[in-house]
Amino acid sequence: MKVYIKTYGCQMNERDSEAMAGILVKAGHQMVSTETDADVLLFNTCSVRDQAERKAVGKIGFMKKLKKTKPSLIIGVAGCMAQARGESLFAELPHLDFVLGTGQLHRLAEVIDSVSKTRKNTALLEEGGEVLDGMGEHFSASAASPVSGYIAITRGCNRFCSYCIVPYVRGRELSRDARGIVAEARMLADSGIREIMLLGQNVAAYGMQGRTSAPEDHDSPFAELLEELCAIDGIKRIRFTSPYPTYFNERLIATLAREPKICRSLHLPVQSGSNRMLAAMNRQYTRERYLEIVAKLKAALPGAAFSTDVIVGFPGETQSDFEATRSLLEEVQFDQSYIFKYSPRSGTKSAALPDDVSDEVKLERNKILLDDLARRVQTALKNEVGETREVLVEGVSHRNAERWTGRTQTNRTVNFLPVEGIAVGQLRQIQITRAGSVSLFGKVVGE
Ligand code: SAH
Ligand code: SF4
Ligand code: F3S
Repeated sequence: MKVYIKTYGCQMNERDSEAMAGILVKAGHQMVSTETDADVLLFNTCSVRDQAERKAVGKIGFMKKLKKTKPSLIIGVAGCMAQARGESLFAELPHLDFVLGTGQLHRLAEVIDSVSKTRKNTALLEEGGEVLDGMGEHFSASAASPVSGYIAITRGCNRFCSYCIVPYVRGRELSRDARGIVAEARMLADSGIREIMLLGQNVAAYGMQGRTSAPEDHDSPFAELLEELCAIDGIKRIRFTSPYPTYFNERLIATLAREPKICRSLHLPVQSGSNRMLAAMNRQYTRERYLEIVAKLKAALPGAAFSTDVIVGFPGETQSDFEATRSLLEEVQFDQSYIFKYSPRSGTKSAALPDDVSDEVKLERNKILLDDLARRVQTALKNEVGETREVLVEGVSHRNAERWTGRTQTNRTVNFLPVEGIAVGQLRQIQITRAGSVSLFGKVVGE
């Protein structure tokens, strides 16, 4: 059958969609890129904020029309909203045929097969370790870029930050077997991938059997995994997202400092700069501890770029709590931050608290942080002019066919004119000549 997959949410969901496509192609199905060509429409959904759910429900609702003109069409929902809402989705969306929970993606081909034969509504929602078997499947290496590929190394989350639905919809934290991960990285390298992005809700907790206490200084199975991956010849760069800040112990920091393939670019979600808010959010660090971790990382990785996630308008957030967040972002000099307005999620701890910061104030705080960020990005880009950076070549620019693009270790896009011998997947030295509004321009100066 012809299958169309639409993905919402984070990179882990994107990776799940790739794995599901891989599973389907293996079972003899064909992937298509337009809804109207498909026999099966699959929506891989997100629940992290209300808006994410509304977007998916709206889109799936809209598909009712298509099903009227093509009654054989099979429509399914997978991912976090499927897990969160389960069978109740059949009542809300009567044209829906199946609901596949986050622990069941390995059974996608089976579900499609049975629904097409029986036409019975089907919901598979159990949590379990078997899902890890399906996580290594690949269809295309990655949607992100022709030279980089995603590898999911953990699944689920045990941290239960008070605002977050992820532990409820993705289940308990599980780590994949290191051998499978290394084999997957080798397979990607053989197919031309040069950069891998390791994914997990809490990647640095890899191999810790779901323990949530901060690890001892010598203990980091994640560092061991990174070292094994760095030893693969074809892999030139390694990134990962998202690590919980307290897992950066001596062992992990030493590995990051020693391995040049690990990109000098770290995403380190902070959520708030106020200790009162951090405690209410059940984040297991203080502002001071967080800054101490960043200082150690900056010392070990000179020139590294830092990015973060922030929530504004958590219940009880005062102006001075907000100012504390603002000053922390300035102090660290994050040059990328994802800023979210608090959205109560049913079933989480904080959903029981009054959502007492008005939408207006949330919006205003959001805007202030975005303006600060835009200023910092401009300064950071301007500071790059004159420097020579290693760039992983991605190919012809989508914006201007005369130029090629690539990214620095710090994840900045660089545009440049191609030179003889240039090829996708090369690492090239590029001198930065000009800063644009979101990217850089430069010229190739060497191998
Ligand atoms: N596991 C990742 C985060 C996954 S969710 C981590 O801990 O680093 C991505 C981001 O969404 C979070 O970092 C948080 O900033 C935001 N988020 C999660 N729940 C939210 C909610 N209820 N309202 C607003 N933002 C939320
Ligand atoms: Fe959510 Fe916290 Fe887990 Fe991240 S660490 S997924 S924010 S519960
Ligand atoms: Fe959304 Fe699920 Fe990712 S809730 S952010 S798709 S883990």
